[in-house]
Amino acid sequence: MSFRAFQVEKTDTGFVRSVVDREDDQLPQGELLIDVHYSSLNYKDALSATGNPGVTRVFPHTPGIDAAGVVINSNDSDFAEGDQVIVIGFDLGMGTAGGFAQRIRVPASWAVKMPEGLDAHTSMRIGTAGFTAAECVQKLEQSGMTPASGPVLVTGATGGVGSVAVKLLAGLGYEVVAVTGKADQHEFLRSLGAVEFMTREEAAEGAEKPLLPERWGGVVDTVGGDILFNAVKSLRYGCSAAACGLVAAPNFAASVLPFILRHVNLLGIDSVQLPITEKAAIWSRLATDWQMDLADLEETLTLNSLSDAIDRILAGQMVGRGVVDLSAED
Ligand SMILES: NC(=O)c1ccc[n+]([C@@H]2O[C@H](COP(=O)([O-])OP(=O)(O)OC[C@H]3O[C@@H](n4cnc5c(N)ncnc54)[C@H](OP(=O)(O)O)[C@@H]3O)[C@@H](O)[C@H]2O)c1
Repeated sequence: MSFRAFQVEKTDTGFVRSVVDREDDQLPQGELLIDVHYSSLNYKDALSATGNPGVTRVFPHTPGIDAAGVVINSNDSDFAEGDQVIVIGFDLGMGTAGGFAQRIRVPASWAVKMPEGLDAHTSMRIGTAGFTAAECVQKLEQSGMTPASGPVLVTGATGGVGSVAVKLLAGLGYEVVAVTGKADQHEFLRSLGAVEFMTREEAAEGAEKPLLPERWGGVVDTVGGDILFNAVKSLRYGCSAAACGLVAAPNFAASVLPFILRHVNLLGIDSVQLPITEKAAIWSRLATDWQMDLADLEETLTLNSLSDAIDRILAGQMVGRGVVDLSAED
């Protein structure tokens, strides 16, 4: 059967994006054929669409590291036709044709059954970005963070990971301080629960100093670079920072002083290869005690509007979550 897909082709003049018709038999091998109802846009999809070799090497390619929909054919005894599923991470949208298409075929080991309390649309408002925010908060809490630990810093706060982190933390009773480069989005961030704001420049001040005054009870960092290590240098005694992103820079100048004088922790966060049982457990929390109404964070996208959104996310201009409606006729 034929279906519509967003496709990136490598040409002599660069990477060209278009919406094309594809056939089921052009999809890779896998036990589950899935009708994708919703996907979502993540920073990594923009890297894939612009030929970043650390993400995608073989073109033509359909990006989309997220997909939610219904199984229409299963060769795995754990899944049946009609099951609603979520697939995020692993190789989806990187080396394997991804969720910016009305159909995917994937190994059953990549899929999580839709937990009660979520559906395809609400799960893709969360998507990899929101899931990663939840993973950060879970690991910080496992490391001892509570609302009594002190204010929590969220960097890249208007972005996909950042905005969901602000909303989740505020809902759990944390005092959230947001780092944002978008002065015109303070009201939006306040509506999610942030109570104080810093510019990116303020967050990067003092990068040459070995320690900064103790301030944060926890940090969710999506940007890396000096902003991340400044945040580590400003952690209160025994507290932790979760690092998940690199939009500012992958490198930072570090010293051991915060670790050996303040007993702080730098926690690594990866949502891609996280074992499927741990993925299912976090989705289950997001469907129950961590359930959030993210409608206000959503910008609805279609296959045809994706290209423009990819340019905006690369320029750091997206706000909230881009949710791709695969049923939209445009
Ligand atoms: N480890 C994992 O498994 C995992 C999973 C998901 C995402 N990530 C990573 O997390 C990062 C964020 O992803 P996302 O989907 O949230 O991206 P996003 O929606 O583009 O958000 C990133 C935000 O960072 C801020 N920003 C942009 N350029 C910046 C710069 N040069 N310096 C400082 N801040 C800047 C912007 O927010 P403000 O304008 O508010 O400052 C931007 O909205 C990416 O690096 C992504 O690859 C990792």
